[in-house]
Amino acid sequence: MSVEDLRFLTEEAESSLKSLHTPEALEAFRVAYLGRKGKVTLLFEKLKALPPEERKSFGQELNLFKNKIEEGLKAKLESVDAPSKTGEENFDPTLPGLRPSRGAIHPITQTIREISGIFERLGFEVADGPEMETEFYNFTALNIPPDHPSRDGFATFYVKSGTDKDSYLLRSQTSTVQIRVMQKRKPPLRMISPGRVYRPDQVDASHSFMFHQIEGLMVDEETTFSELKGILQFAFRQLFGPDTKTRFRPHFFPFTEPSAEFDVSCFLCQAKGCSVCSGKGWLELGGAGSVDPAVFEQVGYDPKRIQGFAFGLGVERIAMLRHGIPDIRLFFEGDLRFLRQF
Ligand code: PHE
Repeated sequence: MSVEDLRFLTEEAESSLKSLHTPEALEAFRVAYLGRKGKVTLLFEKLKALPPEERKSFGQELNLFKNKIEEGLKAKLESVDAPSKTGEENFDPTLPGLRPSRGAIHPITQTIREISGIFERLGFEVADGPEMETEFYNFTALNIPPDHPSRDGFATFYVKSGTDKDSYLLRSQTSTVQIRVMQKRKPPLRMISPGRVYRPDQVDASHSFMFHQIEGLMVDEETTFSELKGILQFAFRQLFGPDTKTRFRPHFFPFTEPSAEFDVSCFLCQAKGCSVCSGKGWLELGGAGSVDPAVFEQVGYDPKRIQGFAFGLGVERIAMLRHGIPDIRLFFEGDLRFLRQF
């Protein structure tokens, strides 16, 4: 073994050290070089047997070899103990990944989807309609006369004035979609249409200038008021529980005749009277009725041969009641402390 051989051995040890990355492999390396029967140890034994003239230079080179191995090993052990986060060689594919932050479905959308699901199971299709409408769709086709107070500028947001079919406004009800669907389709049909509506109301805990409605419409050769009530009752029992009662009160809408407003028995106090129903025992949810023949005429249906019923529900009100939400503005402020609860 010459000094030359020793240098060669040193290079070999250094390059094999570079390829080791686990504590186990480094320990095996340590044993192979510095262990009791390791290469370095054996070489020191050989050193003793060398003639004195050779011993000095070989001894120096051997010490260098030993130091290089000890130092290299130490540095390597440190880097394995504290792996740098960016080094690809330290990437551990078995560690759990970073959890991406996920959004959630808005409570209004959740409520719409749930109600839509109930009606879809009853054979109702979901239809969509524009939020900016003409006076024709929002009023005229729905048999709302020109002097009706809801046409007033204080009751509807007008965008552009003009003739019946060339004036634009933000729809104040989803009943517009009844007309749009009937214009395109022949009876029989069953549809619901959820969406935003706009009214210039003073904003407070129970009023907003924008809110959501779900419109319903069924047209067939024969439809009855009891079917209307049965369908609403079925939906409200799904939403508020199996003991829920439904009540119709006489009302007037220009596009239905006869018309009714409907209430459900308070799910909290079972109609005894509590703070949710302000002591009334009943919760007002929307309006409904048999489609007025004048509306059928507007869309070219023959009112002598077909019948229909329609209803409209307020989505925010249902969501507020079911979740105990005291203020409608919470839905629209985008406060994550509120939204994260759904
Ligand atoms: N569009 C009516 C409203 O906004 C509700 C309604 C819909 C009434 C359908 C009857 C039939 O008040």
